[in-house]
Amino acid sequence: MIGLGQRIAHVLAAMAEVGWALDVAAHVDPDPIGAPILEAAGIDAGAALPSVQALIAEGPFDLLMIGSPNHLHFEHLNAALDAGWPVFMEKPIVRTEDETLALARRLAAGDAPPVYVGLVMRSMSIVREVIRRIDSGELGEIVSIDATEHLHPEHGGYLARNWRRRQAWGGSYLLDKVCHDFDIFGRIAGARPARVASFGGRRIFHPDRAGEPRAYDDGAPAYAMFGAGWSGADDAFTSDMDVADHQTALVDYANGVRLSFHANSHTALQERRWYVAGTRGTLIADLVRNRLIVRGVLAHGRPERIDYGGRTADNHNGADQAMARDLRAALAGEAAFPVTPWDSMEAGLTVMAIDRAMAEEAVVDCAPMWSGYDAARAAPSAG
Ligand SMILES: NC(=O)c1ccc[n+]([C@@H]2O[C@H](COP(=O)([O-])OP(=O)(O)OC[C@H]3O[C@@H](n4cnc5c(N)ncnc54)[C@H](O)[C@@H]3O)[C@@H](O)[C@H]2O)c1
Repeated sequence: MIGLGQRIAHVLAAMAEVGWALDVAAHVDPDPIGAPILEAAGIDAGAALPSVQALIAEGPFDLLMIGSPNHLHFEHLNAALDAGWPVFMEKPIVRTEDETLALARRLAAGDAPPVYVGLVMRSMSIVREVIRRIDSGELGEIVSIDATEHLHPEHGGYLARNWRRRQAWGGSYLLDKVCHDFDIFGRIAGARPARVASFGGRRIFHPDRAGEPRAYDDGAPAYAMFGAGWSGADDAFTSDMDVADHQTALVDYANGVRLSFHANSHTALQERRWYVAGTRGTLIADLVRNRLIVRGVLAHGRPERIDYGGRTADNHNGADQAMARDLRAALAGEAAFPVTPWDSMEAGLTVMAIDRAMAEEAVVDCAPMWSGYDAARAAPSAG
Protein backbone atom coordinates (compact mmCIF):
# COMPACT_ATOMS: atom_id res chain seq x y z
CA MET A 1 0.00 0.00 0.00
CA ILE A 2 1.15 3.52 -0.80
CA GLY A 3 -0.81 5.76 1.55
CA LEU A 4 -2.42 3.81 4.38
CA GLY A 5 -5.17 6.34 4.99
CA GLN A 6 -8.74 5.85 6.09
CA ARG A 7 -9.98 5.01 2.62
CA ILE A 8 -7.51 2.24 1.78
CA ALA A 9 -8.03 0.77 5.25
CA HIS A 10 -11.80 0.64 4.64
CA VAL A 11 -11.30 -0.94 1.22
CA LEU A 12 -9.02 -3.59 2.72
CA ALA A 13 -11.53 -4.24 5.52
CA ALA A 14 -14.24 -4.73 2.87
CA MET A 15 -11.97 -7.09 0.93
CA ALA A 16 -11.47 -9.17 4.08
CA GLU A 17 -15.20 -9.08 4.78
CA VAL A 18 -16.07 -10.62 1.41
CA GLY A 19 -13.51 -13.38 1.83
CA TRP A 20 -10.26 -12.24 0.25
CA ALA A 21 -7.26 -14.09 1.62
CA LEU A 22 -5.19 -11.01 2.41
CA ASP A 23 -1.49 -10.91 3.07
CA VAL A 24 -0.45 -7.26 3.23
CA ALA A 25 3.26 -7.30 2.51
CA ALA A 26 4.19 -3.69 3.25
CA HIS A 27 3.09 -0.08 3.31
CA VAL A 28 4.61 3.35 2.80
CA ASP A 29 3.05 6.21 4.75
CA PRO A 30 4.70 8.85 6.93
CA ASP A 31 1.74 8.84 9.35
CA PRO A 32 -0.69 6.01 8.56
CA ILE A 33 -4.00 7.38 9.73
CA GLY A 34 -5.83 4.26 8.52
CA ALA A 35 -3.77 1.92 10.71
CA PRO A 36 -6.35 1.73 13.58
CA ILE A 37 -9.11 0.89 11.06
CA LEU A 38 -6.98 -1.93 9.67
CA GLU A 39 -6.16 -3.16 13.15
CA ALA A 40 -9.85 -3.16 14.11
CA ALA A 41 -10.50 -5.30 11.04
CA GLY A 42 -7.82 -7.75 12.20
CA ILE A 43 -5.54 -7.08 9.23
CA ASP A 44 -1.79 -6.76 9.68
CA ALA A 45 -0.43 -3.70 7.86
CA GLY A 46 2.82 -5.45 6.89
CA ALA A 47 6.26 -3.85 7.00
CA ALA A 48 6.44 -0.06 7.29
CA LEU A 49 8.85 1.02 4.55
CA PRO A 50 10.41 4.47 4.21
CA SER A 51 9.78 5.15 0.52
CA VAL A 52 7.98 4.02 -2.61
CA GLN A 53 11.36 2.91 -4.03
CA ALA A 54 11.93 0.70 -0.97
CA LEU A 55 8.47 -0.80 -1.43
CA ILE A 56 9.00 -1.51 -5.12
CA ALA A 57 12.34 -3.15 -4.32
CA GLU A 58 10.47 -5.68 -2.15
CA GLY A 59 8.24 -6.81 -5.06
CA PRO A 60 6.81 -8.39 -7.09
CA PHE A 61 3.35 -8.06 -5.56
CA ASP A 62 -0.07 -9.29 -6.73
CA LEU A 63 -1.53 -5.83 -6.20
CA LEU A 64 -0.28 -2.34 -5.37
CA MET A 65 -2.88 -0.15 -3.67
CA ILE A 66 -2.60 3.64 -3.78
CA GLY A 67 -4.54 5.71 -1.25
CA SER A 68 -2.39 8.81 -0.83
CA PRO A 69 -3.74 12.39 -1.04
CA ASN A 70 -4.67 13.41 -4.59
CA HIS A 71 -1.62 15.56 -5.38
CA LEU A 72 0.59 12.47 -5.01
CA HIS A 73 -1.49 10.21 -7.26
CA PHE A 74 0.35 11.00 -10.49
CA GLU A 75 3.78 10.34 -8.98
CA HIS A 76 2.66 7.22 -7.12
CA LEU A 77 0.75 5.81 -10.08
CA ASN A 78 3.72 6.32 -12.40
CA ALA A 79 5.99 4.50 -9.96
CA ALA A 80 3.46 1.66 -9.86
CA LEU A 81 3.19 1.56 -13.65
CA ASP A 82 7.00 1.39 -13.88
CA ALA A 83 6.93 -1.59 -11.53
CA GLY A 84 4.39 -3.27 -13.81
CA TRP A 85 2.14 -4.99 -11.26
CA PRO A 86 -1.65 -4.58 -11.12
CA VAL A 87 -2.72 -1.38 -9.37
CA PHE A 88 -5.76 -0.37 -7.36
CA MET A 89 -5.85 3.39 -7.41
CA GLU A 90 -8.16 5.67 -5.48
CA LYS A 91 -10.05 8.39 -7.36
CA PRO A 92 -9.50 11.01 -8.66
CA ILE A 93 -6.87 9.13 -10.63
CA VAL A 94 -4.97 12.41 -11.18
CA ARG A 95 -5.48 16.02 -10.07
CA THR A 96 -4.85 18.34 -13.06
CA GLU A 97 -5.42 18.55 -16.82
CA ASP A 98 -1.67 18.32 -17.49
CA GLU A 99 -1.37 15.18 -15.38
CA THR A 100 -4.38 13.72 -17.22
CA LEU A 101 -2.77 14.24 -20.63
CA ALA A 102 0.55 12.80 -19.46
CA LEU A 103 -1.23 9.76 -17.98
CA ALA A 104 -3.31 9.32 -21.14
CA ARG A 105 -0.09 9.23 -23.21
CA ARG A 106 1.44 6.77 -20.80
CA LEU A 107 -1.55 4.40 -20.77
CA ALA A 108 -1.99 4.66 -24.54
CA ALA A 109 1.53 3.31 -24.99
CA GLY A 110 -0.09 -0.05 -24.22
CA ASP A 111 2.50 -1.58 -21.90
CA ALA A 112 0.80 -0.66 -18.63
CA PRO A 113 -0.44 -3.22 -16.10
CA PRO A 114 -4.17 -3.17 -15.26
CA VAL A 115 -5.27 -0.10 -13.28
CA TYR A 116 -8.46 -0.50 -11.23
CA VAL A 117 -9.86 2.85 -10.09
CA GLY A 118 -11.90 3.13 -6.89
CA LEU A 119 -14.93 4.78 -8.50
CA VAL A 120 -16.89 2.67 -6.09
CA MET A 121 -20.37 3.77 -7.16
CA ARG A 122 -19.90 1.74 -10.35
CA SER A 123 -20.07 -1.39 -8.21
CA MET A 124 -23.34 -0.50 -6.46
CA SER A 125 -26.41 -2.57 -7.35
CA ILE A 126 -28.57 0.56 -7.64
CA VAL A 127 -26.10 2.23 -10.03
CA ARG A 128 -25.77 -0.91 -12.13
CA GLU A 129 -29.57 -0.98 -12.40
CA VAL A 130 -29.69 2.70 -13.40
CA ILE A 131 -27.20 1.99 -16.20
CA ARG A 132 -29.15 -1.12 -17.23
CA ARG A 133 -32.42 0.85 -17.46
CA ILE A 134 -30.76 3.57 -19.54
CA ASP A 135 -29.14 1.04 -21.88
CA SER A 136 -32.38 -0.94 -22.28
CA GLY A 137 -34.07 2.13 -23.78
CA GLU A 138 -36.87 1.97 -21.21
CA LEU A 139 -36.59 5.71 -20.56
CA GLY A 140 -36.43 6.55 -24.25
CA GLU A 141 -33.94 9.23 -25.18
CA ILE A 142 -32.40 10.98 -22.18
CA VAL A 143 -33.29 14.67 -22.30
CA SER A 144 -32.24 16.18 -18.99
CA ILE A 145 -30.77 15.31 -15.61
CA ASP A 146 -30.93 17.03 -12.25
CA ALA A 147 -28.56 15.89 -9.54
CA THR A 148 -27.50 16.83 -6.03
CA GLU A 149 -25.02 16.00 -3.33
CA HIS A 150 -25.73 17.59 0.02
CA LEU A 151 -23.56 16.71 2.98
CA HIS A 152 -24.07 16.68 6.73
CA PRO A 153 -22.29 19.58 8.54
CA GLU A 154 -19.83 17.14 10.12
CA HIS A 155 -18.76 15.89 6.71
CA GLY A 156 -18.40 19.46 5.41
CA GLY A 157 -16.47 20.42 8.54
CA TYR A 158 -14.10 17.51 7.91
CA LEU A 159 -13.51 18.59 4.30
CA ALA A 160 -12.72 22.11 5.55
CA ARG A 161 -10.05 20.81 7.96
CA ASN A 162 -8.60 17.82 6.06
CA TRP A 163 -6.02 18.10 3.20
CA ARG A 164 -8.97 18.31 0.76
CA ARG A 165 -9.40 21.96 1.79
CA ARG A 166 -6.41 22.98 -0.39
CA GLN A 167 -6.47 22.90 -4.20
CA ALA A 168 -2.78 22.01 -4.19
CA TRP A 169 -3.54 18.75 -2.35
CA GLY A 170 -7.14 17.80 -3.15
CA GLY A 171 -7.76 19.53 -6.48
CA SER A 172 -11.22 20.86 -5.74
CA TYR A 173 -14.38 20.18 -3.79
CA LEU A 174 -16.07 18.62 -6.82
CA LEU A 175 -13.00 16.72 -8.02
CA ASP A 176 -12.51 14.99 -4.71
CA LYS A 177 -16.14 14.54 -3.79
CA VAL A 178 -18.25 14.07 -6.91
CA CYS A 179 -16.03 12.72 -9.69
CA HIS A 180 -18.00 9.52 -8.91
CA ASP A 181 -21.25 11.18 -9.92
CA PHE A 182 -19.87 12.88 -13.03
CA ASP A 183 -18.47 9.52 -14.16
CA ILE A 184 -21.99 8.08 -14.06
CA PHE A 185 -23.60 11.21 -15.59
CA GLY A 186 -21.31 10.90 -18.61
CA ARG A 187 -22.29 7.23 -18.89
CA ILE A 188 -26.01 8.09 -18.66
CA ALA A 189 -25.73 10.96 -21.14
CA GLY A 190 -23.67 8.84 -23.51
CA ALA A 191 -21.62 11.86 -24.57
CA ARG A 192 -18.96 14.24 -23.37
CA PRO A 193 -19.74 17.74 -22.14
CA ALA A 194 -19.64 20.38 -24.89
CA ARG A 195 -20.10 23.42 -22.64
CA VAL A 196 -20.17 23.92 -18.90
CA ALA A 197 -20.98 26.74 -16.50
CA SER A 198 -20.61 26.84 -12.75
CA PHE A 199 -21.02 29.09 -9.74
CA GLY A 200 -19.83 28.43 -6.23
CA GLY A 201 -17.31 29.35 -3.62
CA ARG A 202 -16.54 29.49 0.08
CA ARG A 203 -19.33 31.00 2.12
CA ILE A 204 -20.07 28.46 4.82
CA PHE A 205 -16.71 27.50 6.31
CA HIS A 206 -15.51 31.08 6.22
CA PRO A 207 -13.75 33.19 8.90
CA ASP A 208 -16.77 35.56 8.88
CA ARG A 209 -18.82 32.73 10.36
CA ALA A 210 -16.24 31.68 12.96
CA GLY A 211 -18.53 32.94 15.73
CA GLU A 212 -21.44 30.65 14.74
CA PRO A 213 -22.60 28.08 17.33
CA ARG A 214 -20.25 25.09 17.66
CA ALA A 215 -22.72 22.65 19.18
CA TYR A 216 -25.86 20.80 18.09
CA ASP A 217 -29.13 21.53 19.88
CA ASP A 218 -28.57 18.46 22.08
CA GLY A 219 -25.20 19.81 23.24
CA ALA A 220 -23.01 17.54 21.10
CA PRO A 221 -19.91 19.35 19.72
CA ALA A 222 -20.18 20.34 16.08
CA TYR A 223 -17.53 20.31 13.29
CA ALA A 224 -15.18 18.18 15.34
CA MET A 225 -16.34 14.60 14.93
CA PHE A 226 -13.61 13.32 12.61
CA GLY A 227 -9.86 13.83 13.10
CA ALA A 228 -8.40 16.10 10.41
CA GLY A 229 -5.58 13.70 9.43
CA TRP A 230 -2.53 14.41 7.26
CA SER A 231 -1.70 18.17 7.11
CA GLY A 232 -4.99 18.82 8.89
CA ALA A 233 -6.16 22.21 10.18
CA ASP A 234 -7.61 22.81 13.63
CA ASP A 235 -10.69 24.76 12.75
CA ALA A 236 -13.19 24.37 9.91
CA PHE A 237 -14.01 28.10 9.71
CA THR A 238 -10.62 29.76 10.05
CA SER A 239 -8.50 27.24 8.11
CA ASP A 240 -6.56 28.18 4.95
CA MET A 241 -9.18 26.44 2.79
CA ASP A 242 -9.18 27.56 -0.85
CA VAL A 243 -11.76 25.18 -2.34
CA ALA A 244 -15.53 25.71 -2.58
CA ASP A 245 -17.93 24.57 0.12
CA HIS A 246 -20.96 24.81 -2.17
CA GLN A 247 -21.18 24.77 -5.95
CA THR A 248 -23.69 24.58 -8.77
CA ALA A 249 -22.99 23.50 -12.34
CA LEU A 250 -24.73 23.31 -15.71
CA VAL A 251 -23.55 20.89 -18.35
CA ASP A 252 -24.58 20.79 -22.00
CA TYR A 253 -23.50 17.40 -23.36
CA ALA A 254 -22.46 17.11 -27.00
CA ASN A 255 -25.61 15.11 -27.86
CA GLY A 256 -27.99 17.66 -26.33
CA VAL A 257 -28.49 16.05 -22.90
CA ARG A 258 -28.64 18.80 -20.25
CA LEU A 259 -27.65 18.48 -16.62
CA SER A 260 -27.90 20.70 -13.58
CA PHE A 261 -26.00 19.90 -10.42
CA HIS A 262 -26.10 21.32 -6.90
CA ALA A 263 -23.70 20.48 -4.08
CA ASN A 264 -23.57 21.90 -0.55
CA SER A 265 -21.31 20.66 2.25
CA HIS A 266 -23.34 21.90 5.24
CA THR A 267 -26.96 20.79 5.14
CA ALA A 268 -29.57 19.55 7.58
CA LEU A 269 -31.21 17.26 5.00
CA GLN A 270 -28.62 14.98 3.45
CA GLU A 271 -29.20 14.10 -0.17
CA ARG A 272 -27.47 12.44 -3.09
CA ARG A 273 -30.05 12.13 -5.82
CA TRP A 274 -30.08 11.75 -9.58
CA TYR A 275 -33.28 12.65 -11.44
CA VAL A 276 -33.10 11.40 -15.02
CA ALA A 277 -35.82 12.48 -17.46
CA GLY A 278 -36.15 10.57 -20.73
CA THR A 279 -38.70 10.89 -23.52
CA ARG A 280 -40.48 7.70 -22.37
CA GLY A 281 -39.73 7.46 -18.68
CA THR A 282 -38.36 9.13 -15.57
CA LEU A 283 -36.05 7.73 -12.94
CA ILE A 284 -34.99 8.90 -9.49
CA ALA A 285 -31.97 7.26 -7.89
CA ASP A 286 -31.84 8.17 -4.21
CA LEU A 287 -28.29 7.20 -3.26
CA VAL A 288 -28.71 8.09 0.43
CA ARG A 289 -31.74 5.87 0.96
CA ASN A 290 -30.49 3.37 -1.64
CA ARG A 291 -33.81 3.49 -3.46
CA LEU A 292 -34.72 3.58 -7.15
CA ILE A 293 -38.04 4.92 -8.48
CA VAL A 294 -39.04 4.54 -12.13
CA ARG A 295 -42.19 5.26 -14.10
CA GLY A 296 -43.14 5.53 -17.75
CA VAL A 297 -44.26 9.04 -18.71
CA LEU A 298 -47.64 7.79 -19.94
CA ALA A 299 -48.18 5.37 -17.04
CA HIS A 300 -50.92 6.18 -14.55
CA GLY A 301 -50.11 3.37 -12.12
CA ARG A 302 -47.88 3.58 -9.10
CA PRO A 303 -44.17 4.07 -9.87
CA GLU A 304 -41.95 1.02 -9.67
CA ARG A 305 -39.90 1.28 -6.50
CA ILE A 306 -36.86 -0.81 -5.66
CA ASP A 307 -35.40 -0.58 -2.16
CA TYR A 308 -31.85 -1.88 -2.10
CA GLY A 309 -31.59 -1.57 1.70
CA GLY A 310 -28.23 -2.24 3.31
CA ARG A 311 -27.78 1.37 4.43
CA THR A 312 -24.56 1.82 6.37
CA ALA A 313 -23.18 4.63 8.54
CA ASP A 314 -20.36 5.36 6.06
CA ASN A 315 -22.99 6.24 3.39
CA HIS A 316 -21.44 3.66 1.08
CA ASN A 317 -24.35 1.24 1.56
CA GLY A 318 -22.35 -1.90 0.82
CA ALA A 319 -20.56 -0.44 -2.22
CA ASP A 320 -17.09 -1.17 -0.81
CA GLN A 321 -17.90 -4.86 -0.42
CA ALA A 322 -19.35 -4.96 -3.96
CA MET A 323 -16.20 -3.29 -5.30
CA ALA A 324 -14.03 -5.77 -3.39
CA ARG A 325 -15.85 -8.61 -5.19
CA ASP A 326 -15.43 -6.84 -8.54
CA LEU A 327 -11.73 -6.38 -7.87
CA ARG A 328 -11.25 -10.04 -7.02
CA ALA A 329 -13.13 -11.12 -10.15
CA ALA A 330 -11.06 -8.74 -12.29
CA LEU A 331 -7.74 -9.95 -10.88
CA ALA A 332 -8.82 -13.56 -11.41
CA GLY A 333 -9.67 -12.74 -15.03
CA GLU A 334 -13.33 -13.72 -14.48
CA ALA A 335 -14.96 -10.36 -15.29
CA ALA A 336 -13.99 -6.91 -16.46
CA PHE A 337 -13.76 -4.28 -13.71
CA PRO A 338 -16.81 -1.95 -14.03
CA VAL A 339 -14.78 1.19 -14.69
CA THR A 340 -11.64 2.00 -16.67
CA PRO A 341 -8.88 4.57 -16.14
CA TRP A 342 -10.23 6.30 -19.27
CA ASP A 343 -13.67 6.70 -17.67
CA SER A 344 -11.95 8.11 -14.63
CA MET A 345 -9.86 10.60 -16.61
CA GLU A 346 -12.93 11.76 -18.56
CA ALA A 347 -14.93 12.30 -15.36
CA GLY A 348 -11.96 14.18 -13.93
CA LEU A 349 -11.61 16.41 -16.99
CA THR A 350 -15.35 17.15 -16.88
CA VAL A 351 -15.08 18.34 -13.29
CA MET A 352 -11.89 20.30 -14.03
CA ALA A 353 -13.73 22.15 -16.83
CA ILE A 354 -16.58 22.90 -14.40
CA ASP A 355 -14.10 24.27 -11.87
CA ARG A 356 -12.48 26.39 -14.57
CA ALA A 357 -15.92 27.80 -15.47
CA MET A 358 -16.45 28.70 -11.80
CA ALA A 359 -13.01 30.34 -11.49
CA GLU A 360 -13.30 32.27 -14.77
CA GLU A 361 -16.99 33.12 -14.30
CA ALA A 362 -17.54 32.09 -17.92
CA VAL A 363 -19.11 29.35 -19.98
CA VAL A 364 -16.27 26.99 -20.88
CA ASP A 365 -16.17 25.43 -24.34
CA CYS A 366 -14.84 21.93 -23.70
CA ALA A 367 -13.88 21.11 -27.30
CA PRO A 368 -10.19 22.16 -27.03
CA MET A 369 -9.83 20.10 -23.84
CA TRP A 370 -11.24 16.97 -25.50
CA SER A 371 -9.12 17.39 -28.61
CA GLY A 372 -6.01 17.68 -26.42
CA TYR A 373 -7.06 14.54 -24.57
CA ASP A 374 -7.82 12.61 -27.76
CA ALA A 375 -4.47 13.70 -29.22
CA ALA A 376 -2.73 12.41 -26.09
CA ARG A 377 -4.52 9.08 -26.46
CA ALA A 378 -3.65 8.87 -30.14
CA ALA A 379 0.04 9.77 -29.85
CA PRO A 380 1.36 7.52 -27.13
CA SER A 381 4.83 7.77 -25.73
CA ALA A 382 6.45 5.41 -23.30
CA GLY A 383 7.59 8.22 -20.99
N1 LIG B 1 -13.74 5.99 -3.39
C1 LIG B 1 -14.19 6.63 -2.32
O1 LIG B 1 -15.35 6.56 -2.00
C2 LIG B 1 -13.22 7.43 -1.50
C3 LIG B 1 -13.57 7.85 -0.21
C4 LIG B 1 -12.64 8.56 0.52
C5 LIG B 1 -11.40 8.85 -0.04
N2 LIG B 1 -11.11 8.47 -1.31
C6 LIG B 1 -9.80 8.78 -1.91
O2 LIG B 1 -8.79 8.04 -1.23
C7 LIG B 1 -7.59 8.79 -1.15
C8 LIG B 1 -7.17 8.91 0.31
O3 LIG B 1 -8.18 9.60 1.03
P1 LIG B 1 -8.40 9.33 2.57
O4 LIG B 1 -9.76 9.82 2.91
O5 LIG B 1 -8.04 7.93 2.90
O6 LIG B 1 -7.33 10.34 3.18
P2 LIG B 1 -6.54 10.17 4.54
O7 LIG B 1 -6.08 11.54 4.92
O8 LIG B 1 -7.34 9.38 5.52
O9 LIG B 1 -5.28 9.28 4.12
C9 LIG B 1 -4.22 9.73 3.32
C10 LIG B 1 -2.97 9.01 3.80
O10 LIG B 1 -1.90 9.34 2.89
C11 LIG B 1 -0.75 9.46 3.67
N3 LIG B 1 0.33 10.17 2.98
C12 LIG B 1 0.61 11.49 2.96
N4 LIG B 1 1.73 11.71 2.24
C13 LIG B 1 2.15 10.50 1.81
C14 LIG B 1 3.28 10.09 1.04
N5 LIG B 1 4.18 10.96 0.56
N6 LIG B 1 3.43 8.77 0.77
C15 LIG B 1 2.53 7.87 1.24
N7 LIG B 1 1.46 8.21 1.99
C16 LIG B 1 1.27 9.51 2.26
C17 LIG B 1 -1.23 10.18 4.93
O11 LIG B 1 -0.30 10.07 6.00
C18 LIG B 1 -2.54 9.46 5.20
O12 LIG B 1 -2.36 8.34 6.05
C19 LIG B 1 -7.88 10.12 -1.82
O13 LIG B 1 -7.45 10.08 -3.14
C20 LIG B 1 -9.39 10.23 -1.77
O14 LIG B 1 -9.92 11.01 -2.80
C21 LIG B 1 -11.98 7.75 -2.02
